[in-house]
Amino acid sequence: MAIQTSTERGSWNSRLGFILAAAGSAVGLGNIWGFPTKVATEGGAAYLIIYLLCTFLIGFPVMVAELSIGRASRRNPVGAFRALSSNKFFPLVGLWGVICGVMILSFYSVIAGWAFGYAIEEIFYFLGWTQMADLLTDTGNGWKNALLAVIFMLATIKIITGGVSDGIEKATKTMMPLLIGIIVIMILYVLTQDGAMEGVREYLLPDFSRITTDLVFSAMGQAFFSLSLGMGALITYGSYLSKKENIPQVAAFVTLADVGIAFLAGLLIIPAMYVARSAGIEIFVGDQLASSTDLVFQILPALFHTIGGFVGVTLGVVFFLLLSIAALTSTISLLEVPVSYVIDEHQMERSKAAWLVGLGVTFISVIIAFQTSLIGSFSYIFSDLGLPIGGLLICLFIAFVWKKEEALNELEHGFPTIKQSLFAKVWPVFLYVICPAAIAYNIISNFL
Ligand code: PFF
Repeated sequence: MAIQTSTERGSWNSRLGFILAAAGSAVGLGNIWGFPTKVATEGGAAYLIIYLLCTFLIGFPVMVAELSIGRASRRNPVGAFRALSSNKFFPLVGLWGVICGVMILSFYSVIAGWAFGYAIEEIFYFLGWTQMADLLTDTGNGWKNALLAVIFMLATIKIITGGVSDGIEKATKTMMPLLIGIIVIMILYVLTQDGAMEGVREYLLPDFSRITTDLVFSAMGQAFFSLSLGMGALITYGSYLSKKENIPQVAAFVTLADVGIAFLAGLLIIPAMYVARSAGIEIFVGDQLASSTDLVFQILPALFHTIGGFVGVTLGVVFFLLLSIAALTSTISLLEVPVSYVIDEHQMERSKAAWLVGLGVTFISVIIAFQTSLIGSFSYIFSDLGLPIGGLLICLFIAFVWKKEEALNELEHGFPTIKQSLFAKVWPVFLYVICPAAIAYNIISNFL
């Protein structure tokens, strides 16, 4: 894709290219780090069920909404609301999305840096360079965190300044099947180890008494984060989408790919935790997890090390490299939101905008690299709270400002029979009632 100025907007090379890019945005640390960590700390199978409900009942309708707003307006999130109505409030919703993008990216790049560091750690560990390996696993080391986060941000900026789609499309096309392949191999390995079945039960047999308002709130935030919703990333990606595409269909593909990978990651990591415990690795203190933020980064290397030898190191290196690429296709979409905003609204040239915004984000990343305890509060404010609020307002925008007739007219491109379909009857009910009510209820009960 050659995205240029707002007058000469680029587009995706192909339908597959778009699906891959959107799936690349969705699949990332949220699936492999965020989701299993939350399952482990917040309710096991009960969490999984609520997460799936949030994804399909709230996330999917909002994804269709974002893509149609983006394609109809061909603008960044702020310009999109301005282009589709004269309402003065909604461009601020777009601006909130831009802010969430910047803030999420600032901590995301630190965690992505860890993933990349672990790929190198696996090699050092294999070679017996334990001191170097230990340095890379020390998530509390500010200088190391900062260096890796800066490398990650520079890679993201570099890709955003150049031809985006060729890079993203190619990377994603090979990454996804490989990532799935490795996760499946590891699941098969883990399931044959002592203690695994206890983890499988924890992951798949729900104890409904664990469902609390906190759990539902967290699962909803996770669904938005994982699907890249609520901050206009998919408004932006939709703005490059061709009128030939069937939006509900591509949204369904992206949702299924995202949920599928999260589900597999859970099936790997939850049993692996129990395997680690029966091997004497301390991940629990009493009934509580010893740590949550870097849980996945303790469990997985331990697993690769017990597999050991050349097979262990190869699996470890490839896995963490793939995770880094998955994170990179997500950071690209996170940075694309504020960059497209600056290009469209402040008439700045693409590479200048990418460097300006990118270096600003890098500055915040460095602070977080030294102060990793900030990750929890940032993710609460800008992700768990910020994204669903954005999603809620996007639903209200279509329902009451832009109007569903206009949205359906847009969706008719690529889906000519939509107005006679069941989708046209059901989707508006979700936008008018179900999504806003569920999101508002969750947020309010979380506060109470
Ligand atoms: N969906 C990404 C993940 O699961 O890692 C994170 C993300 C990307 C969130 C883009 C929001 C976004 F706009």
